[in-house]
Amino acid sequence: MAQFDTIIIGAGPGGYVCAIRAAQLSLNVAIVEGRETLGGTCLNVGCIPSKALLHATHSLHEVHENFEKMGLMGSAPKVDWAKMQAYKQEVVNGNTKGIEFLLKKNKVTWFKGWASIPAAGQVKVGDETHSAKQIVIATGSAPASLQGVDIDEKTIVTSTGALTLAAIPKSLIVIGAGVIGLEMGSVYARLGAEVTVIEYLDTITPGMDAEVAKSFQKILTKQGIKFILGAAVQSAKPSKDGATVTYTLRKDAAQTTLTADAVLLATGRIPYTAGLGLEALGVEMLPRGQIKTDDHFRTNINGLYAIGDAITGPMLAHKAEDEGMALAEILAGKAGHVNYGVIPGVVYTTPEVASVGATEEQLKEQGRAYKVGKFPFMGNARAKAIFQAEGFVKILADAATDRILGAHIIGPMAGDLIHEVCVAMEFGASAQDLALTCHAHPTYSEAVREAALACGDGAIHA
Ligand code: NAI
Repeated sequence: MAQFDTIIIGAGPGGYVCAIRAAQLSLNVAIVEGRETLGGTCLNVGCIPSKALLHATHSLHEVHENFEKMGLMGSAPKVDWAKMQAYKQEVVNGNTKGIEFLLKKNKVTWFKGWASIPAAGQVKVGDETHSAKQIVIATGSAPASLQGVDIDEKTIVTSTGALTLAAIPKSLIVIGAGVIGLEMGSVYARLGAEVTVIEYLDTITPGMDAEVAKSFQKILTKQGIKFILGAAVQSAKPSKDGATVTYTLRKDAAQTTLTADAVLLATGRIPYTAGLGLEALGVEMLPRGQIKTDDHFRTNINGLYAIGDAITGPMLAHKAEDEGMALAEILAGKAGHVNYGVIPGVVYTTPEVASVGATEEQLKEQGRAYKVGKFPFMGNARAKAIFQAEGFVKILADAATDRILGAHIIGPMAGDLIHEVCVAMEFGASAQDLALTCHAHPTYSEAVREAALACGDGAIHA
């Protein structure tokens, strides 16, 4: 039986970051991973492979839509799906190997296999049981199923199967207009599939600032994606040539059946804690399947901690990473901290959509006096040069103090632009602080500064 300071279960962004930081802080650390490769859902079948496909298909879209406009003439490239899949896998392999290197470099022991916790302070992997002062559960999440939807990961798929469809479907039905549905829907729409998104609510991307969501839907519709909103999916069944999906409109209960070559179920994810033995151990759980923790990531069992998708909060890789780092610091006797008020969210479509802090709807609900500074990318020379002048930056600031309360961006590089607002918010900055900061010209970032200027005496280029 090997003895460690800390054993971490799950080597996704939460777990491996926790392991590296704990090792850097001189703890003797082991990590257990059931998959053959490190990196968890994000690296193996989530964030990273989907970004490779988004990049490849965005490039194709550029050729079709914009090359001739720039004087780049000639025949469009043909899609070799097998080669695109191989490129995607190479990106994944490079990154998972990178994590392996980092764990070795930091002298973290890697146990391959599925772990269980037979007793407090013990982790069993295969036939071996190891002991640790501290055990961290970082086992992530899995796609949620939906009653009546028969997932086979071939024709009716979750996000995992959507990355490896045998062929590009001519038609695709996406159930759920959340982040996964819209990112993967975009991939296949750009590859020529007729994509229909069925969403239960009356708006896409629930929780997003409503003005941004509306603009997002308009832009995606222009790109050829069809939306059926306010519709509850009853079933999805394999058929002779694909699948049939039946849904009911919420407003009049009218039932419709559609057929498509493939169906993607993207109605959320659920914490993945199966097989750990939590029930036998008496670990307190929340009603939606998350592990209950306090604000130091402690469960009700002494020495047992949990982070990431397995606990409450947004199911985002970077939230898990931050928790991993904070927990490692706490375990090493320092003061780890996560600022949950400044966690950005990004949708990697074209244009990208990014947000941080409060939405306008949340501020209204709180009864808070706020002001809005908005700037359209139409006034940004750089965005116009790359044909991405749709969208805008919106900054919400306190009406009295000018302190930034939230920011919402739909436009080019939104996922990167959002971080200057994140930094500003971490420092408790006002919109004027951003507005007074010199921004290089010509950059997309100028749109952020202009929105900050619009919170005060007004933007220059609008
Ligand atoms: P989601 O929670 O973002 O969206 C699910 C959507 O499905 C919601 O709009 C919901 O109203 C709808 N829905 C639920 N039941 C339905 C039904 N019966 N019929 C029609 N629509 C229905 O979930 P998603 O997209 O599956 O993503 C899962 C998690 O993974 C999320 O927490 C997301 O933030 C995270 N993720 C984040 C990414 C990013 O940051 N870029 C990328 C991929 C996933």
